[in-house]
Amino acid sequence: MRAAPAVRGGHRFLPEEPRVDIAVIGTGYVGLVTGAGLADFGNDVICVDIDVNKIEALRKGVIPIYEPGLDKIVSKNVAEGRLRFTTDLPDAIRSARAIFIAVGTPPRPDGSADLRFVEEVARQIAKHMNGPKLVITKSTVPIGTGRLIDEILHATGNGHKAAVVSNPEFLREGSAIEDFMKPDRVVIGASDPQSAEMMKEIYAPLHSLEIPFVVTNVESAELIKYAANGFLATKITFINEIAVICEEVGANVQDVALGMGLDTRIGPKFLQAGPGFGGSCFPKDTSAMADISRRHGYEFQIMEAVLRVNDDIKQRMVVKIVDALGGEVLGKTVAILGLAFKPETDDMRDSPTIPIIKGLQEKGATIRAYDPQAVANSKAIFDGVTYCEDPYETADGADALVIATEWNAFRALNLTRIKGALRKPVVIDLRNVYEPNRMRSEGFEYYSVGRSADGRKKV
Ligand code: UDX
Repeated sequence: MRAAPAVRGGHRFLPEEPRVDIAVIGTGYVGLVTGAGLADFGNDVICVDIDVNKIEALRKGVIPIYEPGLDKIVSKNVAEGRLRFTTDLPDAIRSARAIFIAVGTPPRPDGSADLRFVEEVARQIAKHMNGPKLVITKSTVPIGTGRLIDEILHATGNGHKAAVVSNPEFLREGSAIEDFMKPDRVVIGASDPQSAEMMKEIYAPLHSLEIPFVVTNVESAELIKYAANGFLATKITFINEIAVICEEVGANVQDVALGMGLDTRIGPKFLQAGPGFGGSCFPKDTSAMADISRRHGYEFQIMEAVLRVNDDIKQRMVVKIVDALGGEVLGKTVAILGLAFKPETDDMRDSPTIPIIKGLQEKGATIRAYDPQAVANSKAIFDGVTYCEDPYETADGADALVIATEWNAFRALNLTRIKGALRKPVVIDLRNVYEPNRMRSEGFEYYSVGRSADGRKKV
């Protein structure tokens, strides 16, 4: 099939022919963004999933997750004939030259990644391959998985040549399309130059944007993903502990972060103190990193500490809210604004709001909550939460309001209405969205994170 030109952000790619025939296995978050993005780069992409309903929905243009811009890029590439969806895995394997594995690697109870789905896909590729295949891991997989896939392909394969590549993704939810289209870097872990060249061909449009390509061996690429996420999680955890100190010594964590971050060796990003990190990656990847390390006979002490501190920080938020309510929440109502682990997503995985809301409920609080996108996913997690239609309805009659996720809508609340709706004008701002002085002058009893006197104590 001749590919229509791919259009992106003013750039126009005019491939003579589809660059590479690609199958992306798994249409979860990573798989779907990858499939749509690679199609937009001018490749011919077929996305595969075992979930018939999901594939049916995708064929009708219904996107199963909330991710800004994803619907448009999917529908555009479907319309232009570069993106298709199927449940027929053998057919997809046969039709593709490059096969991206983007299935889930859920955490086991001990923190290690469960590779069942990855291994099964490798066995299927081995069984159905009909020519040389490039097999690329896009899922975050423990170091050594590339080699494991290679072993499966060669042990059970049908004689065709297969090369394994690690190509970790660094997408942030809420800005995944932008991250895919203009990444800071592309990491390619390959064991032979031809595989690396084919990967560069797949990502060809990024060359014109001068995006750096890091080409290394498979193990290094696998480790880059864990090291990057582990480092970022450490950075967040560091500032969260600095916030604790700030509250004790009368400092302001935002000023401290600014003063630190202007040092170019540190950088300003990921120094926003809050209720601890959550999401689909950081909690899973940090615990997997610690687990991988343990399995190799080394205790990764910083990673172990990050995990422990992140749990503590979430519990500190429960204490902060209880303290703000006078040390007792039994019989009181707490209004929670924001449920998702961060704005612009409906993802509730490891959201800090889970231990916070459950902790408050255990102490006898009644919870009213609102989130612009995550209510449906929250319903499977919480019992006894009253979901509201907007922030004002949520605040209605509550003893305190908690800002738990920094959605833009919560940055511009009508404070007079909020104050009128609350039974008591108590606001606990876990994302430091508001200025303490302003809140004080509006008549609120205001608490936030790591901003001296308004941390644990009243202003
Ligand atoms: C992350 C990585 O950024 C991405 O590269 C990787 O591929 C997947 O994991 P994501 O989970 O979508 O992306 O969200 P991110 O924006 O990184 O935030 C993760 C968590 O850290 C959120 O809970 C967020 O609230 C928290 N965070 C982030 C902070 O508490 N402070 C910060 O300064 C930054």
